[in-house]
Amino acid sequence: MSRQILVTSALPYANGALHIGHMLEYIQTDIWVRYQRLAGNQCQWVWADDGHGTPIMLKAEAEGITPLELITRCKAEHERDIEGFMLSPDNFHTTHSDENRELAELIYTKLRDAGHIVKRTIKQLYDAEKQMYLPDRFVKGICPNCSAADQYGDNCEVCSATYDATELKEPISQVSGATPELRDSEQHFFALSQFGDMLKEWTTSGTLQSEVANKLSEWLESGLQDWDISRNAPYWGFEIPDAPGKYFYVWLDAPIGYMASHKNLAARTNEDWEASWTPDSKVELYHFIGKDITNFHCLFWPAMLQGAGFRKPTGVFCHGFLTVDNLKMSKSRGTSVTIETWLKHLKPEYLRYYYASKLTSGVVDLNMNFEDFTTRCNADIVGKVVNIASRCAGFITKKFDGQLSENYPANAINDYQLFLSAQTSIGEYYEKREFGKAMREIMVLAEHANTYINDAEPWVKIKNPENASEVQDICTIGLNYFRAIVTYLSPVLPGIAAQTESFMNTKLSLESLEHPLVGHKINTYKPMMTRVENSQIEKILEDTKASSPTPVTSNAASSAESYEPLKPEIEIDEFNKVDLRVAVIVDAKPVEGADKLIELTLDIGIEQRTVFAGLKAAYKPEDMIGRTTVMVANLKPRKMRFGLSSGMVLAAGPGGSELFTLTPDTGATAGMRVK
Ligand code: 2FM
Ligand code: ZN
Repeated sequence: MSRQILVTSALPYANGALHIGHMLEYIQTDIWVRYQRLAGNQCQWVWADDGHGTPIMLKAEAEGITPLELITRCKAEHERDIEGFMLSPDNFHTTHSDENRELAELIYTKLRDAGHIVKRTIKQLYDAEKQMYLPDRFVKGICPNCSAADQYGDNCEVCSATYDATELKEPISQVSGATPELRDSEQHFFALSQFGDMLKEWTTSGTLQSEVANKLSEWLESGLQDWDISRNAPYWGFEIPDAPGKYFYVWLDAPIGYMASHKNLAARTNEDWEASWTPDSKVELYHFIGKDITNFHCLFWPAMLQGAGFRKPTGVFCHGFLTVDNLKMSKSRGTSVTIETWLKHLKPEYLRYYYASKLTSGVVDLNMNFEDFTTRCNADIVGKVVNIASRCAGFITKKFDGQLSENYPANAINDYQLFLSAQTSIGEYYEKREFGKAMREIMVLAEHANTYINDAEPWVKIKNPENASEVQDICTIGLNYFRAIVTYLSPVLPGIAAQTESFMNTKLSLESLEHPLVGHKINTYKPMMTRVENSQIEKILEDTKASSPTPVTSNAASSAESYEPLKPEIEIDEFNKVDLRVAVIVDAKPVEGADKLIELTLDIGIEQRTVFAGLKAAYKPEDMIGRTTVMVANLKPRKMRFGLSSGMVLAAGPGGSELFTLTPDTGATAGMRVK
């Protein structure tokens, strides 16, 4: 009996372009979904844009358009990219839809009526100038934990502490530059704390990867906090039915968007979509997500579903982030490549294959290195796979009028069986999301096929007309190997699979492999994939540096770039209190236990200083050694978790990977005062 499977990928925010980082998850989902369909299961992928929240509201404001215009434009761009990358969702909807409004209201009402919604008055930061309550990411100030300056209202980039925005010292509104005030505000909370026992059970019942379950168990042990699901106007989202002026927080209606997309799809397919969401449903439900949104999918979402009387997910598949040369993607280095830019220079299948070759079932980051990418694609897809067809097809077309041998050569049946029996383990690897292992196993088959053709030397044998039927047999064998290999690769390389179907004049399927293709006419072979050239990579990086379109933000961090307001005026005396010095970085190393910090040893002439700087996402420590920079030399030393930090290095940019240390002009030496 075939399985019924419902799959989702995380919903991208409809506020900017999709990039190769997003594609990691979408390609992972697409390969898994296509494999399920190849294996004969009924597998639907329901997906959408995430159309609500403050960043979308502010981005629209900055562009001088309405949020609806912004999300409509972005959705069209996302749909173009989805098609361009050969992704195969059954539906791509939006969370700003009638279905989602209805379902969000329904779930909220059910939760409320079951006693899972509580109202509480809390203190919130309010920007009196802009007349709005400030979301966490729109306030910056001094970290209450380590005293690092310029930290957002939810967590500290330097010491990783999480806290409430109201705990920030010297808060500044990122919208107006004003000092926000504290105001009382009544909010609606989802009583997550009522679901502790259920979640302990659910998270440890095999639904999650063990590393995710372990991480969550720490939280579950320390007790769950209720979750604020409401936001004050102005807010771009759905108004809460019984609370005018209050809106559902974007993360309340976002996962409900999965159901809404399914409902929207069912209107076209006439299926009983609700049957997939009842507690006793036999349909398997899986969510593909990034590691940053596990709490939403593994705590809040299952609790909401249970509380409202729906089924819970069968599994949540969590992946790590994409890094490029072991660093976060960056616009200025040209590594934050949008899908639009990629497709101008390279086919999607190179990236699909590269990701597949590196993907595992673990929650580990996947590193992209363009040299490695080029070598891998050229060696495997072009050198090993496509090569088989191009070496055999010409002889069949020119010498045998496109006809494969009438019978499969008896002495080659055993070897063909090897290709057939590989199906089991390759299938298991796909099922378990061990795509890298599946690719390696398929490449072993491709190597076997190439060795066979090399040894058989059809190009030598063809010179003697007596060998004609032997050459036809060799090429028939080679092309049957090719057919099996492309069938196994079809979840990853759907374009090559389609080209193979028309070239070999047959539909690819696992069942049809049981009988080798013989006595069959094939079509003329046309080149399927060419080598990746360095010049193409260079163009991608150059275009990315040059255009830097704003990529989709997962939070307001990146859009803060355009909102960082001027700080209030100061007197020259105040500025003169700051002792800025030229510093030479004599050593730089990573800090154990701190993802974001680099420990710098700075020579400022008079002495050497140790400074912990939050530059790890932007620089490799070894690349910093020997550089000259500028530091605040009279900043009071701060005791941090990792040691004493004596000063601060100056850097420009919004943060994360977008930080650039300052370098004085040539000639400046260690210790010179900067004035
Ligand atoms: O982090 C993000 O990009 C969110 N837009 C993901 C939402 S996934 C789901 F829950 F809707
Ligand atoms: Zn801190």
